[in-house]
Amino acid sequence: MSDYQYTRNEASDRAENEVQYGYMEKVKQLVDDLSVRLCRRPTAAVITFGCQMNARDSEKLSGVLEQCGFTLTEDEGADFVIYNTCTVRDNANQRVYGRLGYLHNLKKKNPAKKIALCGCMMQEATVIEKLRKSYSFVNLIFGTHNLYKFPELLYACLSSDEMIIDIWDSTDRIVESLPVERQFSFKSGINIMFGCNNFCSYCIVPYVRGRERSRTPEEILCEIRSLVADGVVEVMLLGQNVNSYGRNLEHAVTFAQLLQEVEKIEGLERIRFMTSHPKDLSDELIEVMKHSKKICRHIHLPVQSGSNRILQRMNRRYTREQYLELVRKIRTAIPDISITTDIIVGFPGETVEDVDDTIALVREAQYDNAFTFIYSQRTGTPAASMPDQLPEEFVKEQFNRVLEAVQETARRQTGKLVGHTEPVLVEELNHQEAGHVTGKLSNNTTVHFRGDASLIGHIVPVRLMECKGFYYLGEKVEEDIRELWKS
Ligand code: 5AD
Ligand code: SF4
Repeated sequence: MSDYQYTRNEASDRAENEVQYGYMEKVKQLVDDLSVRLCRRPTAAVITFGCQMNARDSEKLSGVLEQCGFTLTEDEGADFVIYNTCTVRDNANQRVYGRLGYLHNLKKKNPAKKIALCGCMMQEATVIEKLRKSYSFVNLIFGTHNLYKFPELLYACLSSDEMIIDIWDSTDRIVESLPVERQFSFKSGINIMFGCNNFCSYCIVPYVRGRERSRTPEEILCEIRSLVADGVVEVMLLGQNVNSYGRNLEHAVTFAQLLQEVEKIEGLERIRFMTSHPKDLSDELIEVMKHSKKICRHIHLPVQSGSNRILQRMNRRYTREQYLELVRKIRTAIPDISITTDIIVGFPGETVEDVDDTIALVREAQYDNAFTFIYSQRTGTPAASMPDQLPEEFVKEQFNRVLEAVQETARRQTGKLVGHTEPVLVEELNHQEAGHVTGKLSNNTTVHFRGDASLIGHIVPVRLMECKGFYYLGEKVEEDIRELWKS
């Protein structure tokens, strides 16, 4: 891959990184001083809202805090609490405001407590205005584009009592070398690109995450190699629209080409990715997935609606016929693949007939699962100013109709593998049943079976005995796992 060139000013990104490591040293000093005053290490909690990309960003926030000497906790009573927010739907914003009230009460009992907010919601001017006016107890606010400056912002926050607000409109930088505190030792998300250029008419993401920027293949491969050396067996390549990965690099690379390079990394067992836009999913990608031993048998392919009229108003740039043809092509090439989707119900002007089209598409596509969302009016998006916003009652009724169709199809699809023996990556102890563990099939379905903590992080063969709707109960078998992969 040596012919790929860095497109950004890599030297300047590296220099910036050194600046941030310098700030971490300074924060460490402040945290040490605080420890003496408190007679204990100060605690910090990172609370995440939203998608996998936010979860990955939170691992960086945690990494910095831990490196600076904080003891990490999930308890919001911590001395430093940061909410990494989401703004895709309004209920996420409302939850943040609600919980800020609770944090305020905690702060009254512990005046030294610091409260920080970051993430997508902070990129909205109206939110900042409201926080300034009514939430003056918040200490630090920053957005999505300057997360790499977290050590510097943390230093400013810990050494001042002022409310610090630092929001940028955009950035061309990708600084990805902050320390990371991974949630799982054996699997990890990797950002391969940031932002989105699609401007679906309902979606706020392009406004809060900025334009598409891809990391170079070298950076990505280097990060994955070091994760694998550290015990990671599964990676999830993350981007708002991974299918357009690499287009804006100086030497264009396709997502399929990147996957082929990732596949070559020895010791890596599973590759996942998220999210695919149907209009950009190439035949090349299907071909690469078909022949891959490591790319998981799962694709998340958000459809949003089954009505051509609504798809057009959503600016999705495909028709239901094109979408279904794509599903057919994928299923023909990779028969054991599971396909999941996102659906929005209640888009402005959506009629009962439009919803009928969505339900018919759900049945035809035979989704293994679907996330169904009620349309949320996001200020600043084109859909928010469409005149025909729908009444809540009507939308709820339509939502329930779609949900029923999704559940029926998903139940039927999930049951397909009963009686098969499949490799399962064991992820955790089962919280409900002692002596059991929980893991994931390649197609992303959950499996529970008898086992202990020594299995966590390993891929083991499990016979799928019974399907319980959306998950399986299984039994670990002693077969050699390599035999399974050969078949
Ligand atoms: N209202 C409801 N759902 C939305 N999504 C994005 N924007 C909105 C909105 N305004 C959903 C889409 C997307 C998923 C991540 O969130 O289905 O695929
Ligand atoms: Fe939003 Fe559409 Fe971009 Fe997805 S592809 S992040 S739905 S604008």
